[in-house]
Amino acid sequence: MATATAVFEPTVKISATKLLINGKWVEAASGKTFATINPSTGEAITKVAEADAADVDKAVAAARAAFEKGPWRKMSASQRGQLMHKLADLIERHGDELAQLESLDNGKPYHVARAADLPLTIACYRYYAGWADKIQGKTIPVNGPYFCYTKHEPVGVVAQIIPWNFPLLMQAWKLGPALAAGCTVVMKPAEQTPLTALRVGELALEAGFPDGVINLLPGYGPTAGAALARHMDVDKVAFTGSTEVGHLIMRAAADTNLKRVTLELGGKSPNVIFADANMDEAVEGSHFALFFNQGQCCCAGSRTFVEEKCYDEFVEKSVARAKKRTVGNPFDKSTEQGPQVDQEQFNKVMSYIESGKQDKAKLVAGGHRVGDKGYFIEPTVFADVQDNMKIAQEEIFGPVMSILKFKSIDEVVERANKNMYGLAAAVWTSDITKAHAIADGVRAGTVWVNCYDVFDAGAPFGGFKQSGIGRELGEYGLANYTEVKTVTIKL
Ligand code: NAI
Ligand code: MG
Repeated sequence: MATATAVFEPTVKISATKLLINGKWVEAASGKTFATINPSTGEAITKVAEADAADVDKAVAAARAAFEKGPWRKMSASQRGQLMHKLADLIERHGDELAQLESLDNGKPYHVARAADLPLTIACYRYYAGWADKIQGKTIPVNGPYFCYTKHEPVGVVAQIIPWNFPLLMQAWKLGPALAAGCTVVMKPAEQTPLTALRVGELALEAGFPDGVINLLPGYGPTAGAALARHMDVDKVAFTGSTEVGHLIMRAAADTNLKRVTLELGGKSPNVIFADANMDEAVEGSHFALFFNQGQCCCAGSRTFVEEKCYDEFVEKSVARAKKRTVGNPFDKSTEQGPQVDQEQFNKVMSYIESGKQDKAKLVAGGHRVGDKGYFIEPTVFADVQDNMKIAQEEIFGPVMSILKFKSIDEVVERANKNMYGLAAAVWTSDITKAHAIADGVRAGTVWVNCYDVFDAGAPFGGFKQSGIGRELGEYGLANYTEVKTVTIKL
């Protein structure tokens, strides 16, 4: 691990800290607030209004009224798209400020937020803005003297519960398709990172979204989040987060009004390196696959399977790369890795490192906390990891690489699939046959060949097995925000 230098001071002013309900910024009904923490220091940045069930009721009522009677419903589809383009333009104009806010609240390096999170967020709003007036049904040649057609109508009032690892981007993945389809939204940002979501709320009002179309409720999961999931007047809930909470969301929907459910959950994605790969690219790509965003990615390449023939070389080079990774102040231009998002995540990651040591995986880099303030962890690498170890089975969500050895294609496919998750996978090889064997054999929603974490608003993303239900992004993501209506007319 290397230490970073060249710091600059964030200049962003925080303007939005309340609940956005029906186009107005309001305090919580309870009057409660909570502190949002800077993970670099462990100190509070500011206090934010804390929504609970009473606020959920108000926001859902506002979203319902906007959906049934408001100008939103009467607006043409292309006008909806234009509003979304305006929002994208405003986010672009305020890009520096939003990236600073994201970095302060989440801990990710500022220059990474500026170069990755912001452009992906803007592209997502623009992509779905383009869809707004292209959502169309079909005419069906039915039997008899009838004219039959389908309409794709908005699913209605949508609850969206998002996590803290990519706050701006997860907001865009959720709002984009919902708004394009003509839904109204009540969104709960993660309690760790409410600030950018609220700032985007201000920009949405500036863009001219009608009252009640976008409602934002910062608050906690078991209170505000659970109230949304069980609400009888919510037509759909979209959730991104832990598989554990995914089960709770689905149960809440089942026990209430059978609201539609889409889930984007955890992963333990296999990243397979064959000996015929370009080794330097495979090492760098696998490092990125695991360590990007402090290791806090649902699709992190967290089971690094390396062919026996190149195992020693790969381990040696990966260790050298991890030791070179710069950890420190997110506002330092040379920082590659900031702190974990909070104390809870820090503790979780440190306990997995302990578990790896106890299971006798070979600790070859890192393994400790960095400094005594904030939630920084050394880039950590375990070699000789076995399939049955906890670090090879469970989602760590931190900067801990687990390297496993394999001999044959069939063996690695079988081992890759022996896990409850199925979010992503990757393969590094110069042999197209091996690439296809992995792409076909691995049960995962996304497969990358000789690359990793390549995202595009048009390319669907989501999980097989317990990594989730439904897809986000692209046309498939949009389909999850519409209901199909069949209309039959006697001629
Ligand atoms: P979480 O699943 O508890 O939180 C995600 C979101 O769900 C937050 O907005 C939270 O307030 C909300 N939530 C929590 N409990 C809820 C409930 N009972 N009803 C409704 N909403 C609820 O995840 P957490 O605790 O932040 O992290 C735990 C682990 O989950 C991480 O270590 C990681 O393994 C995984 N995770 C996966 C993410 C992904 O991108 N798929 C994102 C964040 C966490
Ligand atoms: Mg939780």
